[in-house]
Amino acid sequence: MLRVVVLVSGGGTNLQAIIDSVESGKIHDTKIVGVVSNNKNAYALERAKKHGIDQACVSPKDFETREVFNKELLKTVRAFSPDLIVLAGFLVVIPPEMIREYKNRMINIHPSLIPAFCGKGYYGLKVHEAALSRGVKIVGATVHFVDEGTDTGPIILQKAVEVEEDDTKESLQLRVMQQAEWKILPEAIDLFARGLIKVEDGKTVIQK
Ligand code: GRF
Repeated sequence: MLRVVVLVSGGGTNLQAIIDSVESGKIHDTKIVGVVSNNKNAYALERAKKHGIDQACVSPKDFETREVFNKELLKTVRAFSPDLIVLAGFLVVIPPEMIREYKNRMINIHPSLIPAFCGKGYYGLKVHEAALSRGVKIVGATVHFVDEGTDTGPIILQKAVEVEEDDTKESLQLRVMQQAEWKILPEAIDLFARGLIKVEDGKTVIQK
C-alpha cells in the first residue's frame, strides 16, 4: 500500500481529485495518510477532515526563522512515513534537505506545459495571465518530480488544453484544472503506485 502525503495551501481541488480517485479505485493500492498545509484556513484541510484523513498545519509565520520552519515541516512530513509526497498547490519553498531525502519520491502539479510559463513567479492565476498575454493557443498542465530547481524536475505526465477566444485568466485556470490537472495528477500517482515510472538520465520512462 503506497503511503501518500499531500501538501496544500489553498482550495484543495487537486487534493479532492486524488481523494476521489483513491476512493473509486482509479488509483491502486494507495492510502492518503496525511494532508499538510502552511495555511490553517486552507479549505483543503476541510476536505481532508471530511474524508477522515489526518491533517497538520505548519506555517512559516509561526517560527522564528525559515531554518526552524524547514526542520518542523520535514519532521511533520516524516512522521507520516510517506512513500510519496504530492505538492498540490503548495506555495511554500520546499527545504533542500527535504528535496534530497525524497528525491524522485516527491511530485508537483504545475498549471502549464513546462517549460512554458514556469519557474520563479509563475504560480496560480499568474501562469494563465502570462499565457493569455502571450497569445498561445494551447496551454495545459504538467506533473513532474521535484528537484532543487523551480518546476525543473523530470516530467512525468502532461496534458494539453485549448485556449478559447473569450477566455479570461479565471476561465482558463478552471478549464486547465478540469481537463488536465484533476486527470493527470491522480494518473501520475497511480503510475507511481504501480511502479511504472523510472527516471533515467534526468528523464522519466513510463511503462504503460
Ligand atoms: C492549481 O492550479 C495547481 O496547478 C497549482 O495551484 C493550484 C492549486 O489549486 N499548483 P487547488 O488548491 O488544488 O484547488
